[in-house]
Amino acid sequence: MATDSSRFELSTAKISAGMHPHHEAHMCESLPLTKTDAGPEPAKSQVICVASGKGGTGKSFIACNLAVALAGQERRVTLVDADFGLANAHLMLGIEPRYDISHVVSRERDLSEVVELGPKGLRLIAGGAGRPGLAMTADSAIDSIVDRLGALEGGSDIIVVDLAAGLSPRVTRFLTAAHDIVLVANHESTSRSDILGMIGMLAETLGAATVHLVINMARDRAHAVVTFQQIWNRVNHAWRGRIKLFFSGWVPRSSFVPNSITRGKPLILSYPQSQPARCIETMGERMHKHHLVWRSRQVGRWGVPSAFAGIHAPVENQPLGN
Ligand SMILES: Nc1ncnc2c1ncn2[C@@H]1O[C@H](COP(=O)(O)OP(=O)(O)OP(=O)(O)O)[C@@H](O)[C@H]1O
Ligand SMILES: [Mg+2]
Repeated sequence: MATDSSRFELSTAKISAGMHPHHEAHMCESLPLTKTDAGPEPAKSQVICVASGKGGTGKSFIACNLAVALAGQERRVTLVDADFGLANAHLMLGIEPRYDISHVVSRERDLSEVVELGPKGLRLIAGGAGRPGLAMTADSAIDSIVDRLGALEGGSDIIVVDLAAGLSPRVTRFLTAAHDIVLVANHESTSRSDILGMIGMLAETLGAATVHLVINMARDRAHAVVTFQQIWNRVNHAWRGRIKLFFSGWVPRSSFVPNSITRGKPLILSYPQSQPARCIETMGERMHKHHLVWRSRQVGRWGVPSAFAGIHAPVENQPLGN
């Protein structure tokens, strides 16, 4: 227990400093060295996918506010609402999109034509709300969208992807394109159990992954840390060496959250002094530091390849976690 605890402290301290223990060793294992004859194309954008085991844990709320926080750090950020057909990021951001991903699927519009401008210069690809047909879109069409997202790389430092709950084939397709995975969980036993199921499936499907855990709807920080540590202990026991789990932050349960959603204005802009907004800002600063480390590696020999453009490895061979 003492050992686990000290390792946990080490992880949180390092991520606070924007560093990732085992990062290089892990990346060595997972980098594709010969994807194409010309070698892998280095990523221009860091792709961060926000996912969860069970639904309603606050993924969209976290993804939207984190994206705005990162945009506020003078990063060029694009948010992709990948909860196709049931999308709501545009509502949380107060945007009425003219076009959405359904127009890309139907080939009526190019990806560049469906980009909407949001707060702090954030760019949004809306996911199409109230479109059950889109939710039923064939997985091959999703593959084609994921591939076309490569076109966003030139104009984005960071691409945040808000996913549907669970680990369906289409969610997995996006996760294989992720450089980093943010999982949103809460303290309820069902959420903890689902997040472990999710992490287990990530380990099975992807071989290895780096996962940033956010504990949402916590009573207070101590409560969030205890929840994280319970999950960390189980992950360390079952998937040591395959899953690197980091504490990325926490957000308290607060009425400011639904109020901000009702107002259609991200929490960090509508109630910037509230505790949940300050927690999101801290999370944003942490992810920003992580991004700067990630970016500095892109010019060195440890640079990771683009996940979207030109990499078409089958899911079981696709590397992740860098
Ligand atoms: N920290 C919080 N405090 C209070 N309410 C919250 C908090 N986080 C999220 N909620 C509420 O939980 C609900 C679900 O949030 P959200 O839509 O972000 O979840 P989700 O994980 O994206 O859901 P889905 O799985 O359906 O996509 C919303 O009504 C939101 O107001
Ligand atoms: Mg959602």
